[in-house]
Amino acid sequence: MSRNKITVVGAGNVGATTAYIAAAQNLGDIVLVDIVEGLAEGKALDIAEAGGVQLYDSKITGTTDWERAAESNIVIITSGIPRKPGMSRDDLLTKNVQIVKETSEKTARYCPDSIIIVVCNPLDAMVYAAAKVTGFAKNKIMGMAGALDCARFSYFLASELDVSVKDIKCVLMGGHGDDMVPLPRFTSVSGTPITKLLDEEKIAGLIERTRKGGIEVVNLLGSSAYYAPAAGTVKMAEAVLKDEKIVMSCCAYCDSEYNAGGYFVGVPAVLGKNGVERVIELDLNESEQAQFEKSLAHVKQLAAKVDKLL
Ligand code: LAC
Repeated sequence: MSRNKITVVGAGNVGATTAYIAAAQNLGDIVLVDIVEGLAEGKALDIAEAGGVQLYDSKITGTTDWERAAESNIVIITSGIPRKPGMSRDDLLTKNVQIVKETSEKTARYCPDSIIIVVCNPLDAMVYAAAKVTGFAKNKIMGMAGALDCARFSYFLASELDVSVKDIKCVLMGGHGDDMVPLPRFTSVSGTPITKLLDEEKIAGLIERTRKGGIEVVNLLGSSAYYAPAAGTVKMAEAVLKDEKIVMSCCAYCDSEYNAGGYFVGVPAVLGKNGVERVIELDLNESEQAQFEKSLAHVKQLAAKVDKLL
């Protein structure tokens, strides 16, 4: 069997960390692409040398040349500017949509059979842009946000309840913004919904911290998070490459699903070799559905901005 080939576009913090985790997990050979001369080459060499300690054999190439990415199984788009304190994810749209456009054109040209995982912000709008530019089948395009937001919610819950994060199953929907929709009724500790373990006020506090999880890190670091985003991205790539069919919250195309009407938005979905294999439709109550619709309305507004710019 030939080895998987994974291209990571953008050798900044998220891209390089994604490449490193994927290499350490022996997911396949990795091509790290960046437009800045020497950046991807330097980081790729450093990651390759860490293999001498960690004993992984992934071939890691850093390059400015997209031809080296040809025929990748997966293309992970991290390129784009990150947030600074005081910025919302939406403030990045105008600049990042052009970067995603260029990257998507290159992906369609050099990796026409790949599955794309978009990571840059504003996430849902950038997934929409990548789908529009590449024209790829909708199941082959997804965005990483739910994995990160669930990771944060799970971590906060595990700390609060003093249980292993391994026992927490988190479900979260909506766009990757302040109106994301964590779902306590569907989030459990070994099968017990957290609504039975914590009072409403405590849950509301943890949800608020999750919603603001990105800016909490931005305010500490002066730039955006990358370890948890990279870990979430590699988990999605692994699910696809190993055809795992695991259910993850991710930004996926929904048409009749949740009455979304043809938009990419955060939902639980089965990930496997075909990308998003199906969207799981939860039986939402009125309040949950209303929160989802509010978040979806915001996602649609951002998509309309993308339409004006592309
Ligand atoms: C965050 C950014 C990466 O949530 O969206 O940390």
